[in-house]
Amino acid sequence: MPIAVRDGVAVIEIDSPPVNALGPQSIVPVIEALEAVQNAAAVTAVVLTGARGNFSGGADMKGFGQDPPPRPNVRDLIEVLEKSSKPVVAALDGNVLGGGFETALGCDYRVAVASARLGFPEIKRGLLPGAGGTQRAPRLAGAQAALELILSGEPVDGARATALGLVDVLAEGGDLLDNAVAFAKTLAGAPRKRASEIAAPPDDGAIEAARKRAQPEARGGLAEHRAIDCVADALHLPFAEGLVRERERFMELIASEQSKARLHIFFAEREAAKLPDGSAPPAFAVRTATVIGGGTMGTGIATACANAGVAVTLVDLAPDVIERARGIIAGNYAATARKGKLSQEEMDARIARITFATSLDAAADVDVVIEAVFEEMGVKQDVFRKLDAIAKPGTILATNTSTLDIDAIAGVTVRPQDVVGMHFFSPANVMKLLEIVRGAKTSPETIAKALAVAKQLQKVGVVAGNCDGFIGNRMLHQYTREAGFLLEEGATPQQIDGVIRDFGFPMGPFAMGDLAGLDVGWRIRRARNAISPPKGRYSKIGDELCEMGRFGQKTSAGFYRYEPGSRTPVPDPVVDEVIARNAREAGIERREISDDEILKRCMYLLINEAAKILDEGIAARPGDVDVVWVYGYAFPAFRGGPLRWADWIGLKTIVDEMEAFARTHGDYWTPAPLLRQLAESGGTFGAWKRGSAAEGQAVTAHA
Ligand code: NAI
Repeated sequence: MPIAVRDGVAVIEIDSPPVNALGPQSIVPVIEALEAVQNAAAVTAVVLTGARGNFSGGADMKGFGQDPPPRPNVRDLIEVLEKSSKPVVAALDGNVLGGGFETALGCDYRVAVASARLGFPEIKRGLLPGAGGTQRAPRLAGAQAALELILSGEPVDGARATALGLVDVLAEGGDLLDNAVAFAKTLAGAPRKRASEIAAPPDDGAIEAARKRAQPEARGGLAEHRAIDCVADALHLPFAEGLVRERERFMELIASEQSKARLHIFFAEREAAKLPDGSAPPAFAVRTATVIGGGTMGTGIATACANAGVAVTLVDLAPDVIERARGIIAGNYAATARKGKLSQEEMDARIARITFATSLDAAADVDVVIEAVFEEMGVKQDVFRKLDAIAKPGTILATNTSTLDIDAIAGVTVRPQDVVGMHFFSPANVMKLLEIVRGAKTSPETIAKALAVAKQLQKVGVVAGNCDGFIGNRMLHQYTREAGFLLEEGATPQQIDGVIRDFGFPMGPFAMGDLAGLDVGWRIRRARNAISPPKGRYSKIGDELCEMGRFGQKTSAGFYRYEPGSRTPVPDPVVDEVIARNAREAGIERREISDDEILKRCMYLLINEAAKILDEGIAARPGDVDVVWVYGYAFPAFRGGPLRWADWIGLKTIVDEMEAFARTHGDYWTPAPLLRQLAESGGTFGAWKRGSAAEGQAVTAHA
């Protein structure tokens, strides 16, 4: 690498597009350059920087899991940095993440711009910073700040990092490199300042507090606990010893199922963002949007647009709804600002991006329209007929329907190629999942654009085929239905919710139903049952609770009761009576049901439905199903989603147990053909690909 020397300061660059990932390719030239300047008399100090306004996004993920791991790695680079005879200053802008941040901490000093993002995202992959980050960060910033960074996985900006002591100089005016070089010049002849030689201030209180807050090890908290152990070492052990232990724990985590499962989700999310042929969607930036329907979803979607810099008009026919939506949006922003998560200036800018209207004419000249009116086919078709006449050609016409047929909605327009489902999850400004539903006539361009919109709105977009419930809710239906059957057979809402929470979900199905509102599903079921009565076994418990006016938290009663002003579910004898009576009427003798049976009956049906969804081409890849469930339904990420977890349990075991359930509970327990076939051939969902030999009957027409 050619080394630029400015005023006696050698400037060395990390350069590996696009994010300056640190793998042998980018590390070797930096090490060579560092070695070259050691004996250069004209060089008094070194500045290490990243190309293209970005220090480094972290260690190269391609090297993860390789055996033996590629060398030189970030640890090797930091060793060379620490041995340098000349002081090294890291010049930080853009992303300074993971191994990139650790490299910066291995330099003597750090100069950063305020907009730099410094952080340790490792915990999100079930890992810990494994190149000295857990040892150097507490020495520079104290245990509490280090733990906050390491355990949250969230980055801080340059200003905050300076306040924490992780950055020495905040470059406030002029060019970063000029600032860094000017600072490095002052170091000529000064002693080195290695973080490894600083003693971390004692703070066992911070360690204990972190341990109390961490998830239990078996419930996804393995990496948290190991990271806390490392930070404790930094306070108590010599640096070299702490470094060895950090390495050991890192290796333990790399080999753990929790980390592998999280890494699976990380890669599955990347895959989901690609087009069916594996290419990235072409760049498409939305500048303007119209959201129709100012209710729960419309308000959230408009907020998500404004957060992403999109100018959005929220349309509702009712002026009082508009006023309510305006109030809710302003209130939500004010609450975020009060928590210090949003500056007044940014909040004002976001609010200013949202305008309100009572006429669909607001959809005349925008890039995307997202409809979120009542869940009634007639109402939606009427809106789309009007949109067809108003919207300019090429506008994406999206519906947020959760149950209706996209083709029937698209069918009332002369441009079904531009119509697509964009199924947001509630609250839409918070939840990361966006199911992008492909109608029979939706064009590939529209799908590509919808994926780009998802990315712009900072959502995880997953393409789904058009069927009842798409990917997520179709699976959910199986799970909640079985939970209802378990109630009849002898379980209680609190037992089932407890089992599901122990598995790692934040909530079980009944507490979740109470939170979301039981009336929503009830209305849908009532409409459906009126057209065609439910086939097979049907539990009436949920319907009866709604008939009693128990809609969940909003009526202070549902599957549980709620004290005034409280969201804590309290078991309710009234519900027990409803359950017992329903069981009697259905001729079911209630018995003790084990936690093990509850978990299997709820989860195996999710997996079985997912197998059908894959086979039918409703989901393109097993990873898509996992991403939908982790981001849309809070399936524990440390288990990698339902299909990854199924592979871990073993498909043969699942099929055998399902067959046993089928003998007791009937045909709906019959394993799906794809599941059975994979189990019999010793296959896994992880290795399954559409069109491969193991796939069985390919339904490529849907893909
Ligand atoms: P909501 O009842 O809170 O809001 C619907 C809004 O649409 C109302 O404010 C109503 O005034 C307005 N509206 C009705 N007809 C209209 C028309 N012709 N033109 C303009 N505005 C009209 O309903 P919510 O919960 O926001 O649901 C909206 C859609 O989103 C539905 O299709 C629903 O299935 C779907 N959805 C709902 C989720 C949820 O958790 N609530 C989750 C995902 C999708």
